[in-house]
Amino acid sequence: MSDLAVNHHADHPGFSGLTGSLFALMFLFTGKAGARLAADVTAVGPGDLVVDVGCGPGTAARVAASRGAQVTGVDPSPSMLRVARLVTRRTTKISWAEGSAEKLPVSDSSATVVWALATVHHWRDVAAGIAESQRVLVPGGRLLAVERQSPPAASGVASHGWTRRQAEAFAALCRSAGMVDVDIADRRAGRRAVWAVSARLRS
Ligand SMILES: C[S@@+](CC[C@H](N)C(=O)[O-])C[C@H]1O[C@@H](n2cnc3c(N)ncnc32)[C@H](O)[C@@H]1O
Repeated sequence: MSDLAVNHHADHPGFSGLTGSLFALMFLFTGKAGARLAADVTAVGPGDLVVDVGCGPGTAARVAASRGAQVTGVDPSPSMLRVARLVTRRTTKISWAEGSAEKLPVSDSSATVVWALATVHHWRDVAAGIAESQRVLVPGGRLLAVERQSPPAASGVASHGWTRRQAEAFAALCRSAGMVDVDIADRRAGRRAVWAVSARLRS
């Protein structure tokens, strides 16, 4: 747990106002490969109910919807959600909600997939985020966290991700919370090396 605290950005000032909107526009481009990876790893498809935690401008939510899933995109930043709504064609497949990983605005046992892409390093309370994911997942539901690979001594933009030890710490938290089939994969999202940690709620 302390390992996760070393390199994450829970004290980030937040994505608000004009700066938040500019970051949202940037994430529209940087999030595409991670979104496709998440959809492939979770094999998302029709019948799935996906919660995209820390959805930012909603790239992964749109990928999931294009594969037939019903999606709720959750983010604490109104600026991110504003851009997400602006760039998403009117659809009944996606709804957007303001909230955080630590307090998801989603009912119990209602999601088959919860994914968190490039966002866990911002969470204030990672254990609470995992507990919330468990609360909203159906038995057997899939949790996936993807973070860019960050070297241990990284600073600045490069530190917005996980070291191997941080990916392992997240996996350990999932295991100790009772999740099963916990796996850490060394993957690529476009040109970027990422950690993809997956887990399942016991059936
Ligand atoms: C780097 S962006 C990633 C956005 C998107 N998932 C993507 O891959 O393009 C990180 C996002 O996490 C959100 N975030 C920050 N703290 C959060 C928290 N405690 N719970 C959920 N999301 C959070 C931010 O508002 C931001 O939209």
